[in-house]
Amino acid sequence: MKTVRLDKFLSDNTPLSRSQIRVTIKKGNVTVNNVVICDFATKISPETDIVKLDNVTVNNKKFIYLMLNKPSGVITASRDKLSQTIIDLVPNQFKHYDLFAVGRLDKDTTGLLLITNDGDYAHKVISPKSNIEKSYIAQVDGVAKDDAVEVLLAGVTLCDGTVCRPAKLEFLGENMVRVIITEGKYHQVKRLLGHVGLGVVKLHRERIGQLILPGNLICGEIIELEYNDAMSVFS
Ligand code: URA
Repeated sequence: MKTVRLDKFLSDNTPLSRSQIRVTIKKGNVTVNNVVICDFATKISPETDIVKLDNVTVNNKKFIYLMLNKPSGVITASRDKLSQTIIDLVPNQFKHYDLFAVGRLDKDTTGLLLITNDGDYAHKVISPKSNIEKSYIAQVDGVAKDDAVEVLLAGVTLCDGTVCRPAKLEFLGENMVRVIITEGKYHQVKRLLGHVGLGVVKLHRERIGQLILPGNLICGEIIELEYNDAMSVFS
């Protein structure tokens, strides 16, 4: 079975530098299978040993899949001089992964946003070819055209020539609608609703494929998804 030095394992799988790792190991902050290890050269088996740093298990996965309940005011980017970004919200234990958002939500849009380091996964989720539903709830104003549902279901061409695939529109009452699309063009939901006479006051993504934003995931919080949950967007 493959073994690696404890300090190498921690430097590959945490944001800490080699020197910080050595200090933290010497302080007794690292356990392997619940035994404190103070020798940073100790060999461990990454596939079977459970390494904990400050009582938190250290992941050694190649790919990770995170789910954010995105707050309004946060931008879908890695860094920005002025605004907080989704990457600023990522907990320290995941910061050393080369993370990016799967698609994007506007600054003022809230809800389900996936973050990963798996480029193939992100590409497949975003690609219209995958035909994955993205479901949004919008608070709207204005008066919808009588045939709004049929117009969006037929697929529209926006005034700048953007051709949109068929979208489902459902009226939920109290100025609320649900819109389901299978692609992610620039401001697509807002522009589709504008096309049928509705302005968007608030927009929230509730679902991607079969993956639903859990009601108990508070705004701004990020959780790691199990592999099967991340893949449920395709089922
Ligand atoms: N459509 C929009 O208009 N905005 C979003 O953030 C996502 C989809």
